[in-house]
Amino acid sequence: MTDMEMASMNIETACVHGAQSFEPVTGAISVPIYQTAPFRHPELGESTGFDYSRSENPTRRALEQTIALIEHGKYGLAFASGMGAISSLIKIFPPFDGGERGKKTHFIVSEDLYGGTYRLFGVYYAQYGYEFSWVDTSEFSRIEAAMRPETVALFIETPSNPMMKVTDIQKCAELIHRKGGRLIVDNTFLTPYFQNPLDLGADFVVHSGSKYLAGHNDTLSGFIVHSSREDADPLLKAQRSEGAALSPFDSWLTLRGIKTLPARMERHQTNGKIVAEWLRTHPAVEKVFYTGFDDHSQRDLSQKQARGHNGMVSFYVKDACTIPSILKNVKLVLFAESLGGVESLITYPLVQTHDAIPEEMRLSAGVNEKLLRLSVGIENPDDIIADLGNALR
Ligand SMILES: Cc1ncc(COP(=O)(O)O)c(C=O)c1O
Repeated sequence: MTDMEMASMNIETACVHGAQSFEPVTGAISVPIYQTAPFRHPELGESTGFDYSRSENPTRRALEQTIALIEHGKYGLAFASGMGAISSLIKIFPPFDGGERGKKTHFIVSEDLYGGTYRLFGVYYAQYGYEFSWVDTSEFSRIEAAMRPETVALFIETPSNPMMKVTDIQKCAELIHRKGGRLIVDNTFLTPYFQNPLDLGADFVVHSGSKYLAGHNDTLSGFIVHSSREDADPLLKAQRSEGAALSPFDSWLTLRGIKTLPARMERHQTNGKIVAEWLRTHPAVEKVFYTGFDDHSQRDLSQKQARGHNGMVSFYVKDACTIPSILKNVKLVLFAESLGGVESLITYPLVQTHDAIPEEMRLSAGVNEKLLRLSVGIENPDDIIADLGNALR
């Protein structure tokens, strides 16, 4: 297929066939798992294009081209996890040495975001000449207020994790570009099936492929997708030098997951809405956060920049003392720390996904002792509701 033909495929088709719909030598329809470390050189000075799997591997390459295709980018890079991808991306923004005025490379970051990203930025990178301002990016004026001359990038999660706030991607891109900086969007929550940030002006999309993309709670992976020729080599060098590239088997699992992404996302969306509506009527529940509610305060923005909703639903229980028994009594919905897989999971962000975030910032984002986060899976929604009903009693 030509590049033009590939680019014109609908997302459902692009996910099933990927960038390589069969292996050209044998015709194998499933991309083979090239489980090898080195590749033989035909002779001195010659190469098949593959030398060593840390640098290039055919299974990983098929996945990287597929994620680039479905995210509407030119380049895709696959990493051993979402954190590996985000960490490598930060490397293209060199740390200032402090300079005369002691200024550091500055990022503006959504305050309501995955706790591991907070830890990576606020604990690790903060040691190396980087500075981060944590802002409620769903309120545009707060981003404007946080901008500084030394701001190099804006990093947003939209919808945010776990409070489901929506940030205007296009407005963020326009603002940061006017100041000469770059926009990074973590698109883990909506996936390219529902949202393509590069089309809205973002410079980089990152993913935890461990979630909806791979979709089966059985592997970790992470991605950077972009279209910047200028950044292509530095990012490739970071991936090859740091050695956090995705393994052949995990590349294959993620490729296989992507084939069913559209069908799963539709089902997550349907189930998410059913469960969110039901939770809203439950007497033990105080408030439900779900972007797909017809009366969600940012519904217009969601409709402008996304084509649907996921299965992520957070809620406050009325009484925090009931949380231990809820987590003990769920049976079908598994008490575990992840999201986006076929199985429904329930998480207690305070002590799990968001425990790295300092209390003041966590509370300001709304992550308190009453908050539970559900990743609604693709089971029959009646069974999910029955299980939650038993546990919430
Ligand atoms: C929105 C988001 N981004 C990034 C990550 C990190 O991904 P990984 O666990 O694959 O390193 C997560 C993990 O939960 C996440 O939820």
